[in-house]
Amino acid sequence: MAHHGRGVVRFALFAVLAAVPAAALAQAPAADEVTFTKDIAPILQRSCQSCHRQGEMAPMSLVTYQEVRPWARSIKNRVVNREMPPWHIDKNIGIQKFKNDTSLSDEEIALVANWVDNGAPMGDPDDMPPPVDFADSAEWQIGEPDLVVRFPAYPVPAEGPDLFGNIYTDLDLDEDRYIKAIQTRVPDDASRRVVHHALSFAVDPDEQQMREAGETDIPAAMFLVEYASGKLSEIYPENSGLLLESWRRMRLDYHLHSVGEDIDANVELGMVFHPKGHVPEHIRWSKQLGQHVTDLDIPPGKVVRTDGYTYFHSAARITAFQPHMHALGTYQCLELIYPSTGTPAETELVSCAHWDYNWHMVYNYADDVAPIIPAGTVAHVISWHDNTEAFRANPDPKNWTGNGGRTIDEMAFAWLGWYDLTDEQYEEELAERRALQEAAAATDQQQQ
Ligand code: HEC
Repeated sequence: MAHHGRGVVRFALFAVLAAVPAAALAQAPAADEVTFTKDIAPILQRSCQSCHRQGEMAPMSLVTYQEVRPWARSIKNRVVNREMPPWHIDKNIGIQKFKNDTSLSDEEIALVANWVDNGAPMGDPDDMPPPVDFADSAEWQIGEPDLVVRFPAYPVPAEGPDLFGNIYTDLDLDEDRYIKAIQTRVPDDASRRVVHHALSFAVDPDEQQMREAGETDIPAAMFLVEYASGKLSEIYPENSGLLLESWRRMRLDYHLHSVGEDIDANVELGMVFHPKGHVPEHIRWSKQLGQHVTDLDIPPGKVVRTDGYTYFHSAARITAFQPHMHALGTYQCLELIYPSTGTPAETELVSCAHWDYNWHMVYNYADDVAPIIPAGTVAHVISWHDNTEAFRANPDPKNWTGNGGRTIDEMAFAWLGWYDLTDEQYEEELAERRALQEAAAATDQQQQ
């Protein structure tokens, strides 16, 4: 059974990698032909404007030529270094097909660089694509929620350092329900300018007191959803639901920043439930997995690697990967160790991602490549922390750092989204996946 799992993911990778570059290269125009209206505007529309437009958190709008032109040099810089758009999956390792992937291809990056080097010309106004009609950020995208949790407003002063922390509120729910869809909403323009990102959790009722008392043995929280301005969050698969127990409290993990005026930051969480009494076909889990086994011990001047392991008792489909570390984190990988009896153990590196504490990215696997794993698979999470002076995000290279819940402490685990499969469902999904891949391989061969 083990080799099935391995073969399935590998094969998918080759198919994806082989398909892209040749065609794209053939179409890349010569440098002097690259213009804003024809080549650059479509890229900005797809990958930048969700954040870079009026009323969103990014510092400037990148919609019209007049708005974009003064930023040309800076755009080239950020794009060539793959800092913008924020998308940190290592492009050379593992699965590369995701839902909502806004990252740029090598060809698109070359286009942007050529355009800037060539004086950033506007081109023919008739080539300009029609503006994108973005969904109103103040609207619910999930339909009318059955429950809205409003976190207490947080006062953000006109000036000051970035704020990180937690806000708690009670959950007003009289019975356990399965969440079908969930969305964080930042309801007003002013709040949207100061909320950089916010993660919400269903937590133990005593968590707040325990944290404040400095206790470490706090029962596990359940990760619900993430908000970052302009970015879509985790997508719950069809026919699936996440169990929200009525005894929980809610926590919002925030990153806020000052923008020159006093603003009360408002954040709401909307949920659509499955009907009462209905148990969805797939019960979705969201847990912190692969928690580092040894204590984090990150002395000044050192780069440290830690490992964590989580055993899957049942077969599963992994739908989302979200690395989690703090300021010193640099890189994290998810490896699957399959339950083979042969030696060496069969393993597969499914995803690696660079880490930037400013961005909590959720990578939602595309349906046709999401890992399908047999019971007995172990998820192995490998994390790297850098406490050297050379690491520019290091707040204090002279400090020893260990694990803990404060922002200045460190963490190392991944949030994985998955749902369990019975062994029969596993075999079925596997057969479906194989059929898809064989069909794709046949098409590839015909084209060669
Ligand atoms: C998910 C939201 C998001 C997306 C998508 C995004 N940006 Fe940004 N961008 C930001 C934020 C927030 C900042 C300010 C913080 C920072 O500098 O990292 C920023 C900063 C920048 C800066 C630096 C501005 C300065 O003050 O120097 C440039 C240039 C930039 N983005 C270009 C782009 C381009 C080009 C794209 C698309 C290819 C893009 N961004 C996509 C959110 C986003």
